This record gives sequence, structure tokens and C-alpha cells, in this order.
Amino acid sequence: MMEKKPNTLHDIATACKVDKHKKRYLNFYEQVFSPMRFDAIKLFEIGVFKGASMRMWVDYFPNAEVVGMDIEPFTSEHPRVTVLQGDQADKTRLEKIGREYGPFDVVVDDGGHTMHQQQTSLGVLFKFVKPGGLYIIEDLHTRDTFWGKHYNETGQITTWQMAADYEKTGVLSSPSVFERDQLFLMNHIQKCERFSHRGCRLCCFRKKG
Ligand SMILES: C[S@@+](CC[C@H](N)C(=O)[O-])C[C@H]1O[C@@H](n2cnc3c(N)ncnc32)[C@H](O)[C@@H]1O
Repeated sequence: MMEKKPNTLHDIATACKVDKHKKRYLNFYEQVFSPMRFDAIKLFEIGVFKGASMRMWVDYFPNAEVVGMDIEPFTSEHPRVTVLQGDQADKTRLEKIGREYGPFDVVVDDGGHTMHQQQTSLGVLFKFVKPGGLYIIEDLHTRDTFWGKHYNETGQITTWQMAADYEKTGVLSSPSVFERDQLFLMNHIQKCERFSHRGCRLCCFRKKG
């Protein structure tokens, strides 16, 4: 008898009505997530909205525990899903979540998308990524020149530029990240990848193993 092939992330995203495939992020995700698909990983996503991506992650990773966080209240009955409320720019809250629920194999930031939020969360949460794990920030195109000033009120370095500078120089610098956390990042990032498709951008930091 032919064994049924597991559904692809694209199939699952379509069924769960997740918009990540419109931005082609799934091409990148299939590549980095397939080696860990059946492992008992812990995935943390910032930005729950109506829960579509939470459903996608639990379907794609059948042995994973998924933790979501959103500034708005949200609940899930799924036995492998925990949803927390919190602001991704609140360093104290993130530290607490990291200590209670981490360490994580994968962190996906699909939250508020401002430069300050993205960089603050990276600075705190990278400590709670497991060795060899991934920290992904979606929608780096929400920089000031693209989707309007709202996403970069302080005019600080864009997250895309911050990652590009890191790739080029090995120095990671952000006004939203404590100096000790900048040092931690520089000492523990193994690789930074930037992915862009028709103006939609993400970056992925892999932690040293
Ligand atoms: C793009 S939606 C998330 C979509 C979801 N990941 C999916 O693919 O189905 C962004 C979410 O980020 C949340 N958000 C906005 N600002 C936030 C903040 N400061 N901290 C945490 N979540 C925030 C919003 O409430 C919203 O639900």
C-alpha cells in the first residue's frame, strides 16, 4: 500500500487561510523547517491575530508545542497551543515569557512590525533560542520608506538594514537593544539570512549550535 505523503506547508497554509504564502515566505520556511518537521520542537510566535498561523504550525509540526503571544487577548483549545497576552516591546514581559516558556527552537515575529518592536523582541528573546535554533522576523518591508512612517516613528535603523550591516561587518547595533544583548547577539549568531520577494522581506538569525 502506498504511504500517504505528509501535506506540504503550502497545502496547510492554504487550508488554514494563512497569508504567509502570498509573500512567498513559505518557500523559505519549507527549506529551513523541513529538517525539524517531526521533532518535538517548541515554536514561539509573536502575533496571533485570529489564530490561523497557530493552526498552521501545529498541523505542520505534529510533535511541536506552539506558544503564541499577542497584545490582544486570544484563547485556543488546542492541547499543543498556549496563547499569552503581552506587548512585544515590553522587555520585562518578554524576559518572563522566555524564562517560563523557553527555550525555543524557533521564534517567529509576526507582531506589530515596527522597527522598535522587532528589534526589542530580538534583543530579549535571542537568549531564549536553543543552540542551533532560528529567530525569524517577518515583514521587514514595513520600514518608513515603504508602508509609511507609522512603522518607524523614531526614524531608527530599519531591521533589514540592521541585519544587512551585521552580515557585512559582524556588528549588530540597535537603539532598542541593551548593549549586553547586542553583545550576546554578536557572540551567538551563527548565520543571518535575508529573504526578499517582490518587496516582501524577512530575516532569519540562526544561533550557534
Ligand atoms: C499580522 S497579525 C498576525 C497574524 C498571524 N501570525 C497569522 O499569520 O495568522 C499581527 C498581530 O500582531 C499583534 N500585535 C500588534 N502589536 C503588538 C505588540 N506590540 N505586541 C504583540 N502583538 C502585537 C496584533 O494584535 C495582530 O494580531
